[in-house]
Amino acid sequence: MTSAHQPGQHSEVTLRVNGKPQTLRVDHRRVLLDLLREDLDLTGSKKGCDHGQCGACTVLVDGRRLNSCLLLAVALDGSDITTVEGLGGDGEEPHPLQRSFLDRDAFQCGYCTPGQLCSAVGMLDEAAAGHPSHVTDPAAPSGAPVPLDRTEIRERMSGNLCRCGAYPRIVEAIEDVIA
Ligand code: FES
Ligand code: FES
Repeated sequence: MTSAHQPGQHSEVTLRVNGKPQTLRVDHRRVLLDLLREDLDLTGSKKGCDHGQCGACTVLVDGRRLNSCLLLAVALDGSDITTVEGLGGDGEEPHPLQRSFLDRDAFQCGYCTPGQLCSAVGMLDEAAAGHPSHVTDPAAPSGAPVPLDRTEIRERMSGNLCRCGAYPRIVEAIEDVIA
């Protein structure tokens, strides 16, 4: 019989996190966000709602942006994870979007910023790969890169909430990288 005090099942998983292989024994109930923050000390990814509603925990999993609070770590064996700490790669230089957010002052408290950055990186790749959004012209050629105007950027970034209301500057920072 299960009880709240009974330990969960564990499995060994190997992840590549910001370019480094990590083998960990994880409780099957552990979500990626907690594993990153508590086991790997990568506290850039933030816990806002813990329910998939705010986007503060967004990371890239095999290049796709996902809410890490909703992902069971045990299901990600073999995956490649990039957090805000790894966006700049191995070098000392920040990712161009990080530089752009700084230049545009695209934050206030900064709590949502790691998620905004990871989401924006994933979003740019999605648009370049021709993935349409809810506001993409249905007559646009299928599979062609989608031009990102402000409406597209706002729609595609709508899963990332900012309690400080830094949205206009976030959009400008993304536009600067596209230009
Ligand atoms: S903490 Fe994951 S979506 Fe809010
Ligand atoms: S900068 Fe404060 S929540 Fe976005």
